[in-house]
Amino acid sequence: MTYLTVYTDGEQPETLLETEDTAEIAATLKEIDVVLRHWQVVEDLPEDAGQEEILAAYGAEVERVIAEEGYTFVDVARLRPDGGPDWPERAAAARQKFLSEHTHDDDEVRYFVSGSGIFYLHAGGKVHAVLCEAGDLLSVPRNTTHWFDMGTEPDFTAIRFFHDDDGWVGDFTGDPIAARIPDFDAITAARAARAR
Ligand SMILES: [Fe+2]
Repeated sequence: MTYLTVYTDGEQPETLLETEDTAEIAATLKEIDVVLRHWQVVEDLPEDAGQEEILAAYGAEVERVIAEEGYTFVDVARLRPDGGPDWPERAAAARQKFLSEHTHDDDEVRYFVSGSGIFYLHAGGKVHAVLCEAGDLLSVPRNTTHWFDMGTEPDFTAIRFFHDDDGWVGDFTGDPIAARIPDFDAITAARAARAR
């Protein structure tokens, strides 16, 4: 279930909104041209399902998005603790890659098959931290300033949509704002505390 926190973007960020209300989240994100949709989660997909199996399981939904938005390349990204001795290093490197504010010249469209991650969308003087979980399809338009935090123990499987497969590059803004806003670990801990 999606969880949205909105902060001011100043030197000392203040929390403006925390919500799990699906309609409120969609309406808030619509103001910054970000679209959040939900697909029915395929429950009987095996834990270790491969890319082909995952894309087939969501075939109708994937085809619809491709037809509507003209994407030409779709793949599945997965990161989860595997117990390997180099996992902490690989996890830290993967997390670091898009942890600073950046833009892309293509849309960033992700469907969460399982696990979670937070997209931070910096627009209109605010930072919208969108915690995505299984069933969430988030479409971030090209040139939106944003960053992504998968936490210190990354665990997610996501379908990605691209307009070309030329590689996924980030244009980094150099703004250190990401360091001022609560990270994945802090937001998931705050959410768990709220639920108690
Ligand atoms: Fe990005």
